[in-house]
Amino acid sequence: MSDLNGRIDAIADRIAGELVALRRQIHRRPELAFEETETAALVARELGKLDPGLRTGVGRTGVVGLIEGAQAGPTIGVRADMDALPIQEETGLPFASEVPGTSHACGHDAHTAIALGVARVVHELKGELKGRLKLFFQPAEETLAGAKAMLDDGALDNPRPDFVLGYHNWPALKAGTVGYLPGIVMASSDAFDITLKGKAGHGAHPHQGIDSLVGAAAFVSQLQSVVSREVAPMLPAVVTIGQLNAGTARNIIAALAAMKGSVRTLDAGVARQIEAAIRRMLDGIATSMRLKATMTWTRLAPVVSNDPRVLPRVVDAARSILGDANVSVLPGPSMGSEDFGWFMEAVPGAHLRIGSRIEGLDTAIHTSNYDCNDLAILTGVKAVARAVFGLAG
Ligand code: NI
Repeated sequence: MSDLNGRIDAIADRIAGELVALRRQIHRRPELAFEETETAALVARELGKLDPGLRTGVGRTGVVGLIEGAQAGPTIGVRADMDALPIQEETGLPFASEVPGTSHACGHDAHTAIALGVARVVHELKGELKGRLKLFFQPAEETLAGAKAMLDDGALDNPRPDFVLGYHNWPALKAGTVGYLPGIVMASSDAFDITLKGKAGHGAHPHQGIDSLVGAAAFVSQLQSVVSREVAPMLPAVVTIGQLNAGTARNIIAALAAMKGSVRTLDAGVARQIEAAIRRMLDGIATSMRLKATMTWTRLAPVVSNDPRVLPRVVDAARSILGDANVSVLPGPSMGSEDFGWFMEAVPGAHLRIGSRIEGLDTAIHTSNYDCNDLAILTGVKAVARAVFGLAG
């Protein structure tokens, strides 16, 4: 395998400059969720050189490609997200966004370049591959809608992957290194929308109306007891109402109150427990305060959970090519979400964090001065390409 490592190293080092140039091209032209037409066209152009039969328009703007190995074996899926954020870039970089109010502040430009690099490496070494590489270039990760859209559009069919690999650049980690965490690494995310309907009335005669605003206030307060008094204290969970609109004027009893909330957990069972508690409390408020309640519930993303049969093989592969010192265990899971969870719910997989810190730059993903270290591209290509061979036969 040391020969394989040497060959992957050599190819990745040789194409790194091209990949950085592609990342910068994508960075200049960021596109929001489900609007990634220019990015998808660039991906199709580059990937089309390796797989002329690739599929475009998967899940609206996604691209799916396939690289066959010389011998039969498992299908390894690699997924990259392509979308940008509605953030005005303030990096001052020479390749900064040319689109006002939109930027690659989460580094998905680098993710796309990494997957194109993995495709190049695997294609060049396909004579050594026992199996095949399936590539998923996904739209709309930031809205947690793109993975589901691709899966609903049959992205996992024909051939169905046996394993899936995902990754995210991570500025808390030193560039040139990767991080991993056994088990659950990112939270599930659910969204709910509630309407409480009462009856309008003159503010001077509250008994003639039914006040939805007082009901909503009581409901928001009561929700605070879900995590503190119903969820086991060792299981992390967040319940938040982030938006509440009610009423029309100072002296009118509010007929309608509308709320938007979110739930994050590190355990699918806890998410369902919280959903049941919220439904019960909403019924209670509606009954006790004479209101009509409606709620829609949407599972935005399941947990990102590393499969114990897949992660050790991916970590071994990363260690073998990057060196033990450059592969580390993450300090803990994040309550952030990532819709790669939908892929992992369907297919056993692993998710890596790729170090992207720029020393001396005080920043974080989703901030206006974010910049992803270019070294993350080279590191990502090496680790992920090597993992593809590690998971193949
Ligand atoms: Ni991201």
